[in-house]
Amino acid sequence: MSDRFYITTPIYYVNDEPHIGHAYTTIAADVLTRYNRLFGKEAFFLTGTDEHGQKLQDTAASKGMGPKQYCDSIVTRFLNSWQRLNISNDDFIRTTEERHKDVVRHILQKLFDEGEIYKGSYEGWYCKYEERFWTEKDLVAGNCPDCDRPVSKITEDNYFFKMGQYQNWLVGYIRDNPDFIRPEHRKNEVLGYLQQPLGDLCISRPKSRLSWGIELPFDKDYVCYVWFDALLNYITAPGYLTDKAKFEKWWPYSVHLIGKDILTTHAVYWPCMLKAAGIPLPKTIFAHGWWLLENAKMSKSRGNVIKPLELADAYGVDPFRYFLMREMTMGQDSSYSEQAFVGRYNSDLANDFGNLASRVTKMISSYTDGMVPTPSASETGDKEIEKAASSLAGKVAALVDEFKLNVAIEEILQVVRLLNRYVESNRPWDLYKNGNRERLNTVLYTASEGLRIAGRLLYPVMPYKIEEFAGIFNLKVEELISEAASDWGWMRAATKIEAGTVLFPRIEKAPKAQGVVSAEKKAEEVAIIDFGDFQKLKFRVARVIGAEKVAGADKLLKLQIDLGTETRQIVAGIAQFYQPDALVGRSIVVLANLQPAKIRGIESQGMLLAAKDGNRLVLVSVDGEIAPGSGIS
Ligand code: ME8
Ligand code: MG
Repeated sequence: MSDRFYITTPIYYVNDEPHIGHAYTTIAADVLTRYNRLFGKEAFFLTGTDEHGQKLQDTAASKGMGPKQYCDSIVTRFLNSWQRLNISNDDFIRTTEERHKDVVRHILQKLFDEGEIYKGSYEGWYCKYEERFWTEKDLVAGNCPDCDRPVSKITEDNYFFKMGQYQNWLVGYIRDNPDFIRPEHRKNEVLGYLQQPLGDLCISRPKSRLSWGIELPFDKDYVCYVWFDALLNYITAPGYLTDKAKFEKWWPYSVHLIGKDILTTHAVYWPCMLKAAGIPLPKTIFAHGWWLLENAKMSKSRGNVIKPLELADAYGVDPFRYFLMREMTMGQDSSYSEQAFVGRYNSDLANDFGNLASRVTKMISSYTDGMVPTPSASETGDKEIEKAASSLAGKVAALVDEFKLNVAIEEILQVVRLLNRYVESNRPWDLYKNGNRERLNTVLYTASEGLRIAGRLLYPVMPYKIEEFAGIFNLKVEELISEAASDWGWMRAATKIEAGTVLFPRIEKAPKAQGVVSAEKKAEEVAIIDFGDFQKLKFRVARVIGAEKVAGADKLLKLQIDLGTETRQIVAGIAQFYQPDALVGRSIVVLANLQPAKIRGIESQGMLLAAKDGNRLVLVSVDGEIAPGSGIS
């Protein structure tokens, strides 16, 4: 295994608004980088923006701005998003930077001088949106096969890169280097594509049609095709033209993490370009799957986009990172839903990990004066924990090398669950009651050391939360993630523990899908309201005249209520706290002028008020007899 790691994300089109798909690739690259660093490797992490091309030129013009000025004004959306999502990139490259344009011109000239680029006539169907040509047979019902937009027939003189001559070489290379294109099924896809004859690549656009690009160094009437320009970013940033030592340090370890939408450009065009220029190929191209929303790819053109920052605002940056990494099997598609998010959060983070942290720290605080105790001789169960925790880092490291982030996270959570069961079966509360100090100390030491090791390994996924978690052990996060801290027994007895930190409070009620930009409103802010606003809320006393369970929904009751002047039906999530029969005849308080809603297909005309504390719920009631329908003010 090498001790270096260089990872790139695609450079995103700067005029797109960052959405969950961009966030996924970028967070995955960040998590991979942080894991590699945690496991002792040196890492270099590159992301950036793709800023040339027709779309950009058109949008800028429509805003009355110059293209560069327009790029400058919108690149901040990516920069700010990545900062907010705690992305630890080492460099951010923009294709409009001089350092990049120098590399593009250099490679173009070199290939031109070596006869790899020639001028010819081109006829094809051009999709302005996807910025690429299609042949007649590629078209679907006469439209672009990628975005279904109309295409136009274009005939013009252009420059071509002699890509076709590399076809056999490329097939051989892909076959001989099993790590080059991953996962396996993507490799097969590329090999399938390469069974058709590979043509030469048109690498220019006449300026008369498109001026926003890098001018060809050998013909001022043309600019460079965006993809030919964009791919070269991966060698610009590590210093291909400016810093030989840096380039040689990183390039052999390069991993391009991309989505499957851009596999051909990366796995076919790019290797041929590098081969022609005499530059070694990247180590690995890994293409992950798509985030789908209602089974369609999320994309700006389809308008079904989820904005990452709104989700991070609603639920926190780290739970968002956790969900994306845990939910998607890297390489396959995944469906996003808010329900899946809340389910995952509550089960893994609130119940398993958060609960383990809070119960262990609470027990240490009440049974051993808030200090990690000194363990005594360990028994089989303790040894099992020690073994599972000690071998965890090695397992996670191997899975990270295989890009199996979701499996790595699941391994950690399995140890967390094992620890919860260990606490259950060893019953420290009984050991304390019975004065069995030695055993109590061993169990609490074992549980807290296991917890610490598991938490440490979640750092790359949730850096903010694990920094908070380190505070529980009175550690700085740098200490917690130091190499020495991976060993079992690193935590000293008598370490002071801070109890009472709730890392992941349960999400009781999912906020309404704030993230879906097209359809949903923005998250509500907690605002101070004035008396007029308050008066709009019509609270009434109501008498329950009927109550029954809702079939198939174990939390819901359907109530008939008497409001004095009318009876109504409301559906309430109180079935786990009240038996239907016990409610009939009771006076409750309802919000009467709430917009009616359907809950599980059943109409609910209002909402009852209840007080909730953790796992307890009690109904709000009035202090004495009063007629149904009475107003509350
Ligand atoms: O293609 N699910 O940029 P781009 C998962 N500029 N990932 C998604 C996604 C989804 N629904 N949608 C987008 C370009 N992505 C070129 C790249 S590189 C030299 C030039 C992610 O803004 C995924 O990584 O269209 C995909 O490959 C990338 O965004 C495309 O970003
Ligand atoms: Mg795209």
